Amino acid sequence: MRIIRTEEVTSTNDYIRQQDEHLTLCWAESQTKGRGQKGNSWESEKGRNLTFSFLLHPERLPAGKQFILSKAVSLAVVEALRTTGTQARIKWPNDIYVGDRKICGILIEHDLSGDGMIRRSVVGIGINVNQQRFLSDAPNPTSLLLETGRICDREALLAAFIDRFTDFYHIVCHDPENGLIDDAYLELLYRKGEWHRYRDAEGCFEGRITGIGPEGELLVEKRSGAVNGYRFKEVSYLL
Ligand code: BTN
Repeated sequence: MRIIRTEEVTSTNDYIRQQDEHLTLCWAESQTKGRGQKGNSWESEKGRNLTFSFLLHPERLPAGKQFILSKAVSLAVVEALRTTGTQARIKWPNDIYVGDRKICGILIEHDLSGDGMIRRSVVGIGINVNQQRFLSDAPNPTSLLLETGRICDREALLAAFIDRFTDFYHIVCHDPENGLIDDAYLELLYRKGEWHRYRDAEGCFEGRITGIGPEGELLVEKRSGAVNGYRFKEVSYLL
């Protein structure tokens, strides 16, 4: 990847949006308008974390299959965190958790072309690395420093992410049906197979995550035995 390291931008996703070259990555020490999912802002203390975005021009990836990219990114983050001795899990659809705490958020924005394919994707990642105190009301944040008790080398962590993502992205482009990514994702899925509380349009219920549907839906079994497939924002996790 071509890495641009900078002091301050509004949002690295917005910065990368103005670039053209496939695999250009921008890492900023601070963002004045760091964005999260659902219109939230992203809190990150200057100079302590990894807040970066990169540009992809996926080869022949249909819009309906876009979730494989999210899987590849999530797996690469988990494997990069593992190099620090930290075991993380993937909380569908965009979060990485250590135990019940969030260590990383992912914001992927796609542009589609007229023929239903993805023309380009901006992948934004915020990993809490050496931050100790969190001021926003974001629920349950943690960082590598809080988890390991050690200051973590951010450059090494970014290099590990790029290394792992490069391998997963090769599969996304050349052999997406081989099941490697899907299987690895399921292995690391937060709460998979366990009964927990959730909320959907009908109210609160007890459910058990059984897997991921073909378009990235979260499959949750209810006590009645019915299995629902939820899209983004259609179901919330309750503690
Ligand atoms: C979320 O969990 O809500 C997603 C957070 C994504 C944050 C990253 S930090 C780098 C990139 N730039 C942004 O403005 N957002 C993403």
